[in-house]
Amino acid sequence: MSTREIPVLFSAEEIEERVKGLAREISLKLPPDLMVVSLLKGSFVFTADLIRQLYHIGLHPQVDFMTLSSYGATTESSKKITINRDLTEEVAGRHILILDDILESGRTLQYARNLITQRNAASSRIVVMLEKPGKREVAISADFVGFTIPDKFVVGYGLDYANYYRELPYVGVLDIH
Ligand code: IMP
Ligand code: MG
Repeated sequence: MSTREIPVLFSAEEIEERVKGLAREISLKLPPDLMVVSLLKGSFVFTADLIRQLYHIGLHPQVDFMTLSSYGATTESSKKITINRDLTEEVAGRHILILDDILESGRTLQYARNLITQRNAASSRIVVMLEKPGKREVAISADFVGFTIPDKFVVGYGLDYANYYRELPYVGVLDIH
């Protein structure tokens, strides 16, 4: 399917406004010297935009990246998360903002938050650009949510289908049926 045919769910302009709003919300709850833990790969575009909005609002985050993958198994519930690439920074004593593209089953973010807690972070909060509410398999919620979306497969703004479509400046709905 060519990029042009993917219908827009959130335009680049709508996303930019919402990311500004998220930066304001975050600045009210987290100290200026927070540490952003960005979960690759899907979150790289959101991370790049959000940290610059954090700058504009006076925050000075440290930024690190972690790659988690889920392996496994045929059924969602038996998925096992493993670390493909770990952080290089110490999180002990730090106020952590875990950042991901989308919260679906919650398994990825639950794994990430447990890891950060085990490593003795002072606090951890979660920000996601998108959330699909009907799909949660574990009890976890995000502290900051860009948009809540219907149960559709979305691409763009960093989100992929087989590593394609990450470059779209908007979030679109991919019809994969
Ligand atoms: P979960 O919350 O552990 O199920 O994992 C969420 C991950 O699944 C995200 O980080 C995305 O990489 C991927 N994902 C879930 N829904 C979508 C979607 O609609 N489009 C693209 N990737 C998705
Ligand atoms: Mg992904």
